[in-house]
Amino acid sequence: MQFGKAALLGAAAILGVTASASALMAHGDVTPQAVDTSALPDIGQEWLAANPYTGNAKAIEIGQSAYGQNCARCHGLDAESGGIAPDLRYLELGESGDQWFLERFRHGSSHDGKVYMPPFGDVLGQKAGWAIRAWLETKHQE
Ligand code: HEC
Repeated sequence: MQFGKAALLGAAAILGVTASASALMAHGDVTPQAVDTSALPDIGQEWLAANPYTGNAKAIEIGQSAYGQNCARCHGLDAESGGIAPDLRYLELGESGDQWFLERFRHGSSHDGKVYMPPFGDVLGQKAGWAIRAWLETKHQE
């Protein structure tokens, strides 16, 4: 009985993992790609409320490459969405746009048990997040 229950729980756990893995697999390889942000000014551990790297040329360069490796497969090359995920060129500029960007970057988006966007905050860190945002700001459209 003991064994049966453990086996059942094990099977349920494996099923759960497979289900969420296949939701992610729909968009291809989702292993976050590390971003080298050592060239950027340190901004501490606490998540900031607004982008400290707006207009910073180095951040924009790092952000462009980080976007290409981590976001483009869903949000489109050069931030032009092909329709799978929202077009990030239309994100609002300024602090309220920063907050919304950060919310998604940190926590991703899941509903009805499906992962629409994986979380990136813990894996890439806020320096990479703000660098991506700094690059996106250069692509902004009204
Ligand atoms: C697996 C596909 C996928 C990847 C990879 C992905 N996203 Fe997303 N993203 C989505 C989807 C789908 C939504 C819409 C989610 C929703 O509305 O629930 C979204 C929403 C967003 C939003 C909110 C947009 C809006 O108009 O509301 C931001 C900001 C965002 N993503 C940034 C990023 C960044 C930055 C990266 C890379 C670090 C990234 N995403 C990687 C799929 C993805």
